[in-house]
Amino acid sequence: MDRYAVIGNPVAHSRSPDIHALFARETGESLAYERLLAPPGEFDRVALAFFTGGGRGANVTLPFKVDAWRLATDRTPRAELAGAVNWLAARDGRIAGDNTDGAGLVTDLTANLGIALAGRRILLVGAGGASRGVVAPLLAERPERLVIANRTKSRAVELADRFASLGPVAGAGLDELAGDFDVVVNATSSSTHGERLALPAGVLGAGVAAYDMAYGPAAAAFLDEARAAGARAEDGLGMLVEQAAESFRLWRGKRPRTAPVIAALRGA
Ligand code: ATR
Repeated sequence: MDRYAVIGNPVAHSRSPDIHALFARETGESLAYERLLAPPGEFDRVALAFFTGGGRGANVTLPFKVDAWRLATDRTPRAELAGAVNWLAARDGRIAGDNTDGAGLVTDLTANLGIALAGRRILLVGAGGASRGVVAPLLAERPERLVIANRTKSRAVELADRFASLGPVAGAGLDELAGDFDVVVNATSSSTHGERLALPAGVLGAGVAAYDMAYGPAAAAFLDEARAAGARAEDGLGMLVEQAAESFRLWRGKRPRTAPVIAALRGA
C-alpha cells in the first residue's frame, strides 16, 4: 500500500490522517497516511528516512515548512514564491515540493464560503510564514488592493515589497489601519499564544468577512471579536481540507469532494 505522512511538531492533533482516509474511501484509492513527529532540528532526517523507507509523499506542518522548502530538490513556482513547502513527493530519487496552502485558502473563501475577492479590499494580518504562503494566491484573485498589516511593521513592508510585482499590495503597521476592508484574514499566531489581536476599532464591522486561517479553539478569540463587532466570522477548517484535497490530487491524480469531509469534521 502506498504510504503518506504528515510531518510536524506537534503533530498528534493533526486532522490530516482523518481527512486523507475520507478522501481515499471516496475516490477508491488504497493508501496509508500516518503522523510523523520530528524533533526540533531533525526534519531532514525524519523526512529522508520516510522516503528512503518507501514513503510516497508527505504533508509538512509547523514548524517545518521552510525546512521542507530547503529539502525539496524540485520546487513549483508557487512554492518558490511562498518560500515554504507543505507538500512533498518522492519522484525518481528526487523530492518534489509544492505549496497548496494558498490554493486551499482561496478555494475555501471563494468556492465554499462565497466570499468574493476580485475587486475587493483585503487585509491580511500577520507577516510570518503562514502569511507569506498566501500572498501570491490572494493577489492572483485580482483584489482592488491587499494590505499586509503586522505588529512589527517592517516585516509587513518587506513582505509586500517581495510581492509588489504581482499586484496592488502594501505593508502597514497594525496601529495604522483604518476600517475600509471587505475581507480580513488573520494569519497571525496571536491566539495560539493566548494573546488578543489588537486591531484598531472599525476594522471589523458589519459587511466585513473575517476569516481565521486557524480553526477550532485557536481561532476562537479573533472570531469572537469579529462577531461582536458585527462581522461575518469563519474559521480555517475548510482551508485545511482544501489544501489536503489539492495535495491528494497532486499525489493521486483525483480530486476528492471536500464538502462532505468538512461537514464530517465539523460534526466530529
Ligand atoms: P508563522 O509561521 O505561524 O506565521 P511567525 O513567523 O512566528 O509564525 O509569525 C507569527 C505572526 O503572528 C507574526 O506576524 C507576528 O507578529 P510579529 O511579526 O510582530 O511578531 C504575529 N503575532 C504573534 N502574536 C501576536 C500578537 N499578540 N499580536 C499581533 N500579532 C501577533
